[in-house]
Amino acid sequence: MIPADPVWLVTGCSSGFGRALATELATRSIRVVATARSVSALAYLETGPRVAIASLDVTRADTVEGAFDEAVAAFGRVDVVVNNAGIGVIGPVEDVSEEQARLQFEINVFGVLNVVRAALPVLRVQRGGHLVNFASMAGEVSIDSLGIYSASKFAVEGLSEALRAELAPYDVGVTIVEPGPFDTEWLGRNAIWAPRDDARYPAVWEYVEAMRAVYADRAQVGDPARAAAAIVDALTNGTPPERLPLGAMAFDALRRKIAALSATLASIEPDAPSMLYPKETAP
Ligand SMILES: NC(=O)c1ccc[n+]([C@@H]2O[C@H](COP(=O)([O-])OP(=O)(O)OC[C@H]3O[C@@H](n4cnc5c(N)ncnc54)[C@H](OP(=O)(O)O)[C@@H]3O)[C@@H](O)[C@H]2O)c1
Repeated sequence: MIPADPVWLVTGCSSGFGRALATELATRSIRVVATARSVSALAYLETGPRVAIASLDVTRADTVEGAFDEAVAAFGRVDVVVNNAGIGVIGPVEDVSEEQARLQFEINVFGVLNVVRAALPVLRVQRGGHLVNFASMAGEVSIDSLGIYSASKFAVEGLSEALRAELAPYDVGVTIVEPGPFDTEWLGRNAIWAPRDDARYPAVWEYVEAMRAVYADRAQVGDPARAAAAIVDALTNGTPPERLPLGAMAFDALRRKIAALSATLASIEPDAPSMLYPKETAP
């Protein structure tokens, strides 16, 4: 349940979706605590009685707890928590270094967990609120060159589904946001590229170079400002959806996933009765 005059807290507001969300909320005069690793990156916001800023690095639990403390001190409550901060590691799975893969999970998975751990004591005690967790269309459908990133977003999907069930008695909801490609810094300053090695996966590297070119031309189709408006609308008008795919490519990806799952089930269905694998009873 989201109250009439809610307080939002958003992670990763220095650029992209986070910045667009903070701007959209401030414009609509919805109370917001915009956070970033460095508050100097939030200078675009005019702070005041309905807009606060706080420093928050999702990989540092102390800063996450500190930001929630500041939010409660400023507004007395937090109602909508947006787990937006995230990065992408790009390259064939075998070429991504262990350090890069661990950093991917440190930010996209354990970072979300840090925020959830700080948020739930507030939301549960209020007996109401909402988590908005950014996954991706890559959290539903994985493609070559995004295996490690997809794995982190699949983890966000799984975590979010369990949280939705666990938090229902407390009237705390969960919406998973699943964007397609949007014009942010995800492919820019925040992208982590695997060390290039054309020998093993030349076709995948060709695709990775095409992604770099898309960013260089700022040719990602989606406008984050329009996505932000859609997210605020979805959370404000009626019951928030369980999932919010953003953009035509995200819808297509989900439909392809459903079709592929249905086809797999249909192909094994003739054998299904024998797949109960009952334990053999002792004679
Ligand atoms: N753009 C897309 O096409 C797309 C598609 C699907 C999903 N997404 C998801 O959308 C979310 C937002 O990304 P974006 O597209 O808006 O990209 P972005 O412009 O690169 O924004 C990412 C934000 O995350 C922040 N961040 C990174 N590491 C952090 C940390 N340790 N603690 C706190 N903040 C941190 C960055 O802050 P700094 O300035 O401090 O680095 C930045 O504000 C991500 O979860 C991403 O995976 C994006």
